[in-house]
Amino acid sequence: MMRRLLYVFLFLTAAAPGYAVSGDHPLINNIPNRTTISLNGSWHFIVDPYETGLHSRFYQNAKAKDKNDLVEYDFDKSDTLNVPGDWNTQKKELLFYEGPVWYERAFSYRKREHTRVFINFGAANYFSRVYLNGEALGEHEGGFTPFNFEVTDKIHDGENFVVVEVNNARRRDAVPALNTDWWNYGGLTRDVALVEEPDTFIYDYVVQLAKGSGQEISGWVQLTGAFSEQQVTLEIPEVGIRKTVLTSADGYAEFHFLAKLELWSPAHPKLYDVVLSSGADKVHDSIGFRTIETRGTRILLNGEPIFLRGISLHEEAPMRGGRAFSQQDAETLLGWAHELGCNFVRLTHYPHSENMIRLADRMGIMVWSEIPVYWDIDWENPSTLQNAKSQLRDMIARDHNRASVILWSLSNETPVKPERTTFLRQLAETARRLDSTRLLTSAMNHVDESGIDTRTLNDPLGEYLDVLGLNEYLGWYWGRPEDADRMQWKTAWDKPLIMSEFGGGAPYGRHGSADERWTEEYQASIYQHHIVMLKKIPSLAGLSPWVLMDFRSPRRQLPGVQDFYNRKGLISNQGQHKQAFYVLQKYYQELESGK
Ligand code: GCU
Repeated sequence: MMRRLLYVFLFLTAAAPGYAVSGDHPLINNIPNRTTISLNGSWHFIVDPYETGLHSRFYQNAKAKDKNDLVEYDFDKSDTLNVPGDWNTQKKELLFYEGPVWYERAFSYRKREHTRVFINFGAANYFSRVYLNGEALGEHEGGFTPFNFEVTDKIHDGENFVVVEVNNARRRDAVPALNTDWWNYGGLTRDVALVEEPDTFIYDYVVQLAKGSGQEISGWVQLTGAFSEQQVTLEIPEVGIRKTVLTSADGYAEFHFLAKLELWSPAHPKLYDVVLSSGADKVHDSIGFRTIETRGTRILLNGEPIFLRGISLHEEAPMRGGRAFSQQDAETLLGWAHELGCNFVRLTHYPHSENMIRLADRMGIMVWSEIPVYWDIDWENPSTLQNAKSQLRDMIARDHNRASVILWSLSNETPVKPERTTFLRQLAETARRLDSTRLLTSAMNHVDESGIDTRTLNDPLGEYLDVLGLNEYLGWYWGRPEDADRMQWKTAWDKPLIMSEFGGGAPYGRHGSADERWTEEYQASIYQHHIVMLKKIPSLAGLSPWVLMDFRSPRRQLPGVQDFYNRKGLISNQGQHKQAFYVLQKYYQELESGK
């Protein structure tokens, strides 16, 4: 009950003026298994650096009525972009472009009785205004979470046109703010689709094991459009489970019952077909059941200690570059992680696509999912806090039925100061109210030098977390690779530690001696010495070195070496495996074989 009210409260407050907004209807969960009509494909676009389109009402998609009429834009005569996709890698002249771009596409639709229609966006970076047939539907802020608008009364029976202004301009009060180490790919970066639903339908639900119980299913379901108590049935046909509950007048109901299920794990990524039905609505979902907890410095999966053999990665498309979005992109990236010997990935620094998460469910790869509270942001600005809360709410709402997701991360490398810790403490409280079954973490990087070769993590943020993430770049930004042999790491808490980032840069194919920076040998040496160091950290429960694949960054300009790429990948952006890949792979094989 509390959790449901919080989703609605966070949604309603997000709609308040000046605060981050998120579509006009709470997120419809499980879009991949809903009745949808794709609007992907080729959309016209107009680049609008001065945002003239707002004043000139580009969203009306007007045409000159006669030879005297003054209309200074024409979508039909404008160039096109593929959706989904970023504009930066589709048009050379837009590689560095940050600002407003207007998208338009026409489509025909056949209206039907008792059918509600929504338009759903998987993501759009960063701030969007959406219009249908010239009418404003609303706005959305945040580049990596889904949003939807109801268009039942606005969609025409026949020809329609949708116009979306997408603006990826960076702002001091935004999330992320002005400075990041990744390319600010702009556009309609994930799937766009119409979603058809009955008048009353199941828009969100959680069906998971209760915290710490391998047998009790504890969940809830929320209908929309219900004006009286209604029956909802939950089925897991494979094990003959069928439970029917009655909702409250406003469409909410909870489930609590015992069930003997095969538990999801990397070794056995068991997913069940779960069916929820109510009235004219029926939703299928593939759900795995597992428990995730901590005990002291151990992380327990299904009650057993597990070590997270991980890697960090950006949502960058292998080979072609640009923002990744497709099933193929996910298969390539997680395929490499699998080849490395990973049972865990840290998806940085923002929620990745649902394709990626659902593939991790199927492959048995555990996931760290993060919101882009990155480096320094406008901590004391209420709209920034609301924005971060909305992105957190939507990240959790989209993936709260995914067994693979074990960790919600609130932030990355944020400065230790009171206003920041207060901000993040509030996010931690929000996350715990929304989802009490998963673990909370953050990637921290402020440590105390508590001896020549000893560093202690005692960032006050650690207090509010279940698992401590630590980014350190010994051998790259400070010290030499071999210094790791002597380095001791301590933390101020009896909590599991994940070394969430370490590494060094080397363009593929650049060779030299192990003490020559920017060579594969130097990068490999950082890994070899780190493995010695990691084996000595008592509270270490996992690692996710930086980074699986080289990725574009506007902060990396060294000619002939970086060329606007962060070269800390174990694999180049063209898929070439560097020496360090095999160093880490060997270590993970040892860990997996228990050597
Ligand atoms: C940081 C940061 C990453 C960045 C990396 C680097 O730790 O979290 O986003 O890319 O260091 O400097 O390469």
